[in-house]
Amino acid sequence: MSTYNDNLHWRYATKKFDSTKKLTQEQVDELLEATQLAASSYGLQPYKVFVITNPALREKMKEHAWGQTQITDASHLVVFCAYKTIDESYVDAFIDLVSKTRGIPVESLKEYREMMVGSIKGRSPEALANWMKCQAYIGLGFLLSAAAQANIDACPMEGFDAALVDEDLQLSDKNLTAVTFCPLGFRSSEDQSAAYKKVRFPKEEFFVFKD
Ligand SMILES: Cc1cc2nc3c(=O)[nH]c(=O)nc-3n(C[C@H](O)[C@H](O)[C@H](O)COP(=O)(O)O)c2cc1C
Repeated sequence: MSTYNDNLHWRYATKKFDSTKKLTQEQVDELLEATQLAASSYGLQPYKVFVITNPALREKMKEHAWGQTQITDASHLVVFCAYKTIDESYVDAFIDLVSKTRGIPVESLKEYREMMVGSIKGRSPEALANWMKCQAYIGLGFLLSAAAQANIDACPMEGFDAALVDEDLQLSDKNLTAVTFCPLGFRSSEDQSAAYKKVRFPKEEFFVFKD
């Protein structure tokens, strides 16, 4: 049986997908659940995850991503979209959810709420937008890892024009912006990059141990 790391060695940023092979709904559901279980700062999950199968839309998006074929050939295209701004009303909606989910009164979450609001107000608009994008990348990491464990191929991608993709996805009035793509599916037998050796800095350089 493959270990967790065997599967991470198996995965690679797939350049060419086999367009005839599709994920089952069960596989999609499993990967999306793993994505949703990603950690996020304070648990705020300040992003949305689009799952795109519409061929015409994907064709248009490919044009805005330098023609990268993964966008149209993969079985499913996942797009992580971060919020552009976040305010107290978002925090209040989240607090309501915590209260309902855990069966505790909103009043008991006052300090938690104040901490989140303080954290939001303490950042510049740019820093805030960047922070929300960072949360979306954690979701991407969970998805990549889960896909590898299921032997499903994926390719993290940020090679696209976000302004044009935002138009494709009609995000302008939704306070969202596209951050990263993750096409999912199965590698083509013609994808030579599947055989490329992984390039990683030596462990002694990458890790720093302070004993
Ligand atoms: C945030 C991010 C953006 C990336 N964008 C692209 C992309 O637009 N197109 C592409 O083919 N690969 C893209 N990659 C894949 C990287 O080139 C790849 O992950 C890296 O070379 C390491 O190889 P491996 O993932 O196969 O181990 C991206 C990776 C990450 C994490």
